[in-house]
Amino acid sequence: MKPEKPKTIHIVLTYHCNMRCIHCEFWKIKPEKEVGLSDWKKIIDDIYNWLGNNTVRIKIAGGEPAVKVFFYELMQYIKEKGFYLGITSNGTVFSERDIKFLCDIGINEINISLDTLDRKRYIKIRGKDEFDRVLQNLMCFKKYTKVTSINLSPTIMEVNSDEITELVRFAIKENFWITFQAVFNTFGTEYYAGWYKDFALFPRNIEVIEKAVREVIAYKDVYRQIGNSKEQLLTMIEYFRDPGKNHNMECNAGNTDIGIDNVGNLLLCFNLNPVGNLLERRIDELFYSKEADIIREEIKSCPRECKLLNCVFPFSD
Ligand SMILES: C[S@@+](CC[C@H](N)C(=O)[O-])C[C@H]1O[C@@H](n2cnc3c(N)ncnc32)[C@H](O)[C@@H]1O
Ligand code: SF4
Ligand code: SF4
Repeated sequence: MKPEKPKTIHIVLTYHCNMRCIHCEFWKIKPEKEVGLSDWKKIIDDIYNWLGNNTVRIKIAGGEPAVKVFFYELMQYIKEKGFYLGITSNGTVFSERDIKFLCDIGINEINISLDTLDRKRYIKIRGKDEFDRVLQNLMCFKKYTKVTSINLSPTIMEVNSDEITELVRFAIKENFWITFQAVFNTFGTEYYAGWYKDFALFPRNIEVIEKAVREVIAYKDVYRQIGNSKEQLLTMIEYFRDPGKNHNMECNAGNTDIGIDNVGNLLLCFNLNPVGNLLERRIDELFYSKEADIIREEIKSCPRECKLLNCVFPFSD
């Protein structure tokens, strides 16, 4: 059967990053010759020619996407093409002028990774003290937004596992959205089976997490700003209890969500081999290729535990 067309395309613009997080080592990835501005524009045109701009969302992340010199020009190009555009950022490198620019061009969502409201914890998690800057920039997005929804994206891990409801209350008070991510094996490192057994960042106090996540589910009945579906939040409780249980879930990678990496590879899943390169072949040609079918088979029986991550879990609420 012919696969459905993708609804979200995640672009990893770069693996470079200015921060030094405990849960992510993308910044350690050896510098490669990354796709330049004119080739990104061709890739965006290619997506447009295949899917139009109505049914597909483009989401930009990294690394830290805002460190790329052509970041703002590319964002403007994507918006001028009429696409829905979401950006995920650590929120540390924007100036007030940059934020006004992004709001003025009408980016649809800005996801800022704020994992804690405590400065000491922030430094522990992100490796540098940019706590005030991130809060300041969040307020700046609030000042200039016209259509941009502002979303906090905390990753739940041991160090902030007791802050879940506090983060939700903060988001509601400030009229931000909030979408949680469950911690997975350190990004940018080799996967190994059973990684969570000795992973210091993996939360161990499941009672605290379960109580808090159930409170988040209850908040969802009253406030609209919680981005995770109830189904995902309930699955998260199971995941924290025993990540291995997710072995039985089918993964949605490559179904509604696909990816493009910093060198232009088309990926059905960021952890599996690329289908091919978009600087050499058209996106629709690659998406329906034999190479893609082989990876789709691999995904069907993939034993890893990352089916819950926000870039693959279907949002069904
Ligand atoms: C890889 S970052 C890229 C964008 C940007 N640099 C940022 O930090 O938001 C995207 C999201 O993945 C989260 N993340 C990083 N390492 C993770 C891990 N090991 N498990 C789950 N989420 C993780 C980050 O906290 C962030 O919210
Ligand atoms: S999570 Fe984001 S900010 Fe932290 S190192 Fe990874 S890419 Fe950089
Ligand atoms: S579980 Fe899904 S997202 Fe994770 S590696 Fe396998 S196919 Fe990719």
